[in-house]
Amino acid sequence: MPKLSVRDIDPKGKRIFMRVDFNVPLNDAGEITDDTRIQASVPTIENLIARGGRVILASHLGRPKGKPNHKMSLRPAAIRLEQLLGKPVAVAGDCVGAEAEAAAKALQDGGVLLLENLRFHAEEEKNAPEFAKKLAALAEIYVDDAFGSAHRAHASTEGITHYLSSCAAGLLMEKELEYLGKAVGHPERPYVAIVGGAKVSDKIELLQNLMKFADNILIGGAMAYTFLKAQGVEVGLSRVEADKLDLARELLKTAQDCKVDLRLPQDHIVAEKLDANTAAELAPARSIPANRLGLDIGPATRADYAAKIAKARTIVWNGPMGVFEIPQFAEGTMAIAHAVANSHALSVVGGGDSIAAVKKAGVEAKISHISTGGGASLEFLSGLTLPGVAALTDK
Ligand code: 3PG
Repeated sequence: MPKLSVRDIDPKGKRIFMRVDFNVPLNDAGEITDDTRIQASVPTIENLIARGGRVILASHLGRPKGKPNHKMSLRPAAIRLEQLLGKPVAVAGDCVGAEAEAAAKALQDGGVLLLENLRFHAEEEKNAPEFAKKLAALAEIYVDDAFGSAHRAHASTEGITHYLSSCAAGLLMEKELEYLGKAVGHPERPYVAIVGGAKVSDKIELLQNLMKFADNILIGGAMAYTFLKAQGVEVGLSRVEADKLDLARELLKTAQDCKVDLRLPQDHIVAEKLDANTAAELAPARSIPANRLGLDIGPATRADYAAKIAKARTIVWNGPMGVFEIPQFAEGTMAIAHAVANSHALSVVGGGDSIAAVKKAGVEAKISHISTGGGASLEFLSGLTLPGVAALTDK
């Protein structure tokens, strides 16, 4: 069902409660190390202020467990946002209460206010109605641009929508839904899904959903060893989810039934142990020697996967192929990043690690869409309904 868009509302002179996802990484000095999510919210903020809206921004940062914690303050995000917007951003030291109310009332047309971390109140994650009501009372319109938090049914993403009549999707939210929607709707074929990461159990729903429309599923990362072991292949000391072997067998069977070409690594980069100083070795067959563990896909697998990627018209990538944080185990993931970037397909990358890999490979500009959502993009691609999206006003 198409949702009301920020384009459909008239923000002039109105106070807009805009949920953003400023859950950005901070270093020990409290500095933002990646401001992608803040940058991504700028088009919607600029759209609203250019039309005379009074913008009240709200976000969570980290998991402060319902208590104020200065290490998870949004103040650094306000400073970064001021630089990006080129105008002052007021800050309220709490997201509800007298200070927030006064700051919201003081806003002028085109003004911007950032409320302090929503998760300093336990009621946010509990989706407590009274708390949602207090957030709603700050504004007349709700705009949700926090795609990264849309899989959470929290007071600021779901509860608040019960107390405001116009609840619209922001431009980032729309863009995410458009691209990810193309990757699960009626994709152009061949459709190649690349799924990696540590655990099969984290990606069961994703794999099951992909089976419905993917032509190829290329598996990498530690989850590949669980699949190989399930097929009876020797995987040495590799990380395996011993309790998920039956599940892996079931998924392999489903792929066969759905006529999906699910591919597993045919060679590996292995080592004695997982350590930045350990030498990488090539294990040229499907099996891995008993005293070695697999840490990346090998060159034959890279070539095989790259050939499939080159022919694709739609690509979805979630999860790295190996321990790419360590240079000697990064080649597989880097090769996939370059293959996706050089393809002529609509390419969608989701999940924190695969996004970091794309950035490391320096190919961001050649990817059709890099999702700002981690868990949210995984759930969307798994075919699940995101409560933060479902709650928005139908057009
Ligand atoms: C994310 O980073 O995936 C979102 O901001 C959601 O954060 P959460 O997993 O702490 O709810």
